[in-house]
Amino acid sequence: MRPAAAIPAAPVSAPPVFDPERPWLAPLAGYSDLPFRLLCREYGAAVCETEMISAKGLLYETKRTYELLRTTPEDSPLVVQIFGGDPDSVKTAAVALRGAGYRYIDFNAGCSVRKVARQGAGAALLGDAALFMRIAKALIKAVKDEAGTTPGMVGFKLRLGVARGREVLPDLALALEDAGADWITLHPRYAKDGFSGAADWDEIGRLAERVSIPVIGSGDLFTATDGINLISTSDASTVMYARGALYNPDIFNEHKNLLTGRTANEPDKNALAKIIRRHIELARIHGPEKRAFVKTRSLIPRYVRAFPGAASLRGRLCEVPDWDALNELLYDFFRGAPDESEERTG
Ligand SMILES: Cc1cc2nc3c(=O)[nH]c(=O)nc-3n(C[C@H](O)[C@H](O)[C@H](O)COP(=O)(O)O)c2cc1C
Repeated sequence: MRPAAAIPAAPVSAPPVFDPERPWLAPLAGYSDLPFRLLCREYGAAVCETEMISAKGLLYETKRTYELLRTTPEDSPLVVQIFGGDPDSVKTAAVALRGAGYRYIDFNAGCSVRKVARQGAGAALLGDAALFMRIAKALIKAVKDEAGTTPGMVGFKLRLGVARGREVLPDLALALEDAGADWITLHPRYAKDGFSGAADWDEIGRLAERVSIPVIGSGDLFTATDGINLISTSDASTVMYARGALYNPDIFNEHKNLLTGRTANEPDKNALAKIIRRHIELARIHGPEKRAFVKTRSLIPRYVRAFPGAASLRGRLCEVPDWDALNELLYDFFRGAPDESEERTG
């Protein structure tokens, strides 16, 4: 196995926390980049995961892979998510990550997109428990065996199995716990089902009863009320918001508010304008210029989808060539919002 390239050093991250009052931001390929993680942290996310990163990709010095690892001291606690289909590359990648200072690793065994499945990685591994456990043991050893440094932690993100009738729980989770896993995240659907049907939250409860390590619940958490309901019915250690956070990064604060007896916020154009402005600011500070612009522009329709004028805004966004024009367009869109007199952000 080719040795991993030298990964740029990471700032020290605090360890992840497992607390029902402290929800996580889920790994979101294409979305949970540094600007979005920082935004979610400002809105109450307790722990954030990177987008999934290919273990093999980490073995080569690719600019794109390093971009996925970009972080800052404020981006803490940070969990790096990796995927891979063979013990050697996963182990080598984990050693390289540890060497660069990334201590908290989540292993993706839940993704069923073709690019990942083709490598026998992600949820495809749920169909080969023996291989999965070889990879898991190699990863755990690589992350935890680094002498003289703060111990690392390793989590595993699972689905129920490849397909109905081929369930892997609780046995696989118990084997991972025995091997030294620190937490398990369960998105209770079968790999074959993608995102169709409903996530079976009862499975999260059943798993939490069987293992002693924290279980994080994921799946169909579109609002903070969903997250609270999952926690109260399942005994999950905490939840991770995915699509719910993409629609509304304030979901994390709402989660905490609901737990302290406050009511959920009504959709508010003023609050949304503030979120978008901040996302743009963070993208401008932390993103590679051209790519950050195109990406940030593409995120806006999702934020505004529930507000009048969203469809026409979507059309006009494609024509916007730069940050100034984007801010101008958004200023027009939000003109009716109560904070219209605020200075426009650059
Ligand atoms: C756009 C998108 C990208 C995702 N990327 C990842 C990923 O990189 N790694 C991963 O383990 N799960 C990924 N997921 C799955 C989510 O982390 C989460 O488990 C799933 O969306 C279920 O939660 P939700 O129904 O509340 O969205 C992704 C989901 C979406 C919608």
